[in-house]
Amino acid sequence: MKVGSSKGTKVCLTVTSVLIAIVLLIVILALTVFKAKHPVTTVDSLKIQDFDLNLDIAKLRVDLNITLDVDVSVKNPNKVGFKYSNTTAHLNYRGQLIGEVPIIAGEISSGETKGFNLTLTVMADRLLSNSQLYSDITSGSLPLNTFLIISGKVSILGFIKVHVVSTTSCDFAVNTSNKTVGNQECQYKTKL
Ligand SMILES: *[C@@H]1O[C@H](CO)[C@@H](O)[C@H](O)[C@H]1NC(C)=O
Ligand SMILES: *[C@@H]1O[C@H](CO)[C@@H](O)[C@H](O)[C@H]1NC(C)=O
Ligand SMILES: *[C@@H]1O[C@H](CO)[C@@H](O)[C@H](O)[C@H]1NC(C)=O
Ligand SMILES: *[C@@H]1O[C@H](CO)[C@@H](O)[C@H](O)[C@H]1NC(C)=O
Ligand SMILES: *[C@@H]1O[C@H](CO)[C@@H](O)[C@H](O)[C@H]1NC(C)=O
Repeated sequence: MKVGSSKGTKVCLTVTSVLIAIVLLIVILALTVFKAKHPVTTVDSLKIQDFDLNLDIAKLRVDLNITLDVDVSVKNPNKVGFKYSNTTAHLNYRGQLIGEVPIIAGEISSGETKGFNLTLTVMADRLLSNSQLYSDITSGSLPLNTFLIISGKVSILGFIKVHVVSTTSCDFAVNTSNKTVGNQECQYKTKL
């Protein structure tokens, strides 16, 4: 009886320490090798595909069509795949949304960089209602902003799902006389 119970205690202790060791190993791996890292978004290029401007000085009216080509790349620095949800890239003018393009959900495998070539077209009717447009156009510089949030999940060791987000915001000005993009300034924010 006595011998049996002490053997049982030993087996029990051994099993417990093995279990503790496995749990510790998983926790250490989860915090190091498999630690979730946020995706890194970079705006590679921003070009004007189309810029048509019609200025009616008599009526102080602006007729403007703009199409922008924005090349964005998203890198997944994780040791595992990153699944991102549906999202939308925005084009803003002085805080007002004037164009958008959807990005359909997908996956970026470990270490891969995925490129998105986005075409943003201005919804002219929204732009026209802005009272500052006329003065911006006549000053020769149109300030615009592109905004993109990529969010999704990284699953660590297959069962721990971590939510990661990456925000990109670029301010730039379009020179209305030579129709080029000048002084582009991007801010990248990330959070786990
Ligand atoms: C902008 O596009 C609209 C519709 O396609 C067209 O009617 C208008 O003439 C265009 N404006 C300019 C300045 O090209
Ligand atoms: C993502 O967008 C696609 C295409 O518009 C749609 O079929 C799908 O249901 C969307 N998924 C979610 C989770 O909203
Ligand atoms: C995006 O465009 C660039 C050049 O403009 C090209 O090298 C790249 O392959 C394109 N990427 C995709 C995903 O179409
Ligand atoms: C736009 O470009 C033209 C020609 O390069 C230049 O003369 C002008 O100063 C520029 N305007 C602005 C607002 O930078
Ligand atoms: C257009 O104007 C910008 C300044 O707004 C200048 O940096 C750029 O070099 C000009 N491009 C051409 C082709 O004149």
